[in-house]
Amino acid sequence: MKIIKIGGSLITDKNEYRKFEKEKAIKIIEIISKEQFILVHGGGSFGHIASKKYGLPGKLSKEAIFGACVVKNDMTLLNNHVISLMTKMGIPAMGFSPFNLWKREKFDYSPVIRAYEQGIVPVLFGDAFIDHEFVKIESGDDIMVDLSDIFKPESAIFLSDVDGVFDDDPKINKDAKLIRKFNGETIKFQGVKNDVTGGMLKKFDSMLKCRQMGVKTYLINGKYPERIMDIESGEFIGTEFI
Ligand code: ATP
Ligand code: IPE
Repeated sequence: MKIIKIGGSLITDKNEYRKFEKEKAIKIIEIISKEQFILVHGGGSFGHIASKKYGLPGKLSKEAIFGACVVKNDMTLLNNHVISLMTKMGIPAMGFSPFNLWKREKFDYSPVIRAYEQGIVPVLFGDAFIDHEFVKIESGDDIMVDLSDIFKPESAIFLSDVDGVFDDDPKINKDAKLIRKFNGETIKFQGVKNDVTGGMLKKFDSMLKCRQMGVKTYLINGKYPERIMDIESGEFIGTEFI
């Protein structure tokens, strides 16, 4: 079984509030659903814009709680778009929000495990949740680390909008080189706008954690999801963590 995270920038227009990119989502789901998987997706313009507007993550206040409600509802909407596509394709998919899984000090994934054991494809997503005095945001990348630990999948695949990890941000530095096998090289990360969960640096940290748990981990360009099928071949374009 594979765990796969679709970055929010792939299935939403990150600059337009709550714009779902249906055709792009269909293309990715058609390819990843050829094998057994658990899906995680990010927020894109269903998550980051409202989070920023309400100052999330942040200290608990009336406004922050209101913001958490808006963000959770918007993320549920995005998740429903994804689930609807999947069920139309005949995939028994069901959504799980971190907000509902949070139990005092940690996330309780037992409903997700139970669903998976019943043959359901769990679809998790980044979301707001309330922890004591704070409204926090759990990113899809954090969820991938937890799922690696619990399920010990054969691989953890992160789909983003770049060909892999480069030695510098490829959107800023045209000479940046793709790192095909990451083995401790020095990398420069540039900040990403419209992102409350930390951009590529955060994702990179999550990918290292998945690898440290013994799970084969890859970053692939989700605009070309067919690259997933080349993972074991010499043709593979992406970054493998070794
Ligand atoms: P979103 O977060 O909305 O989906 P994502 O989870 O796919 O997207 P981002 O958090 O946007 O990923 O991070 C991807 C971006 O990180 C790329 O578009 C790229 O511009 C930027 N980036 C910065 N430094 C690097 C680097 N060294 N290698 C690759 N990408 C980098
Ligand atoms: C963020 O999740 C969710 C919210 C902002 C509510 P991610 O951090 O996984 O989302 P993307 O992939 O960057 O859009």
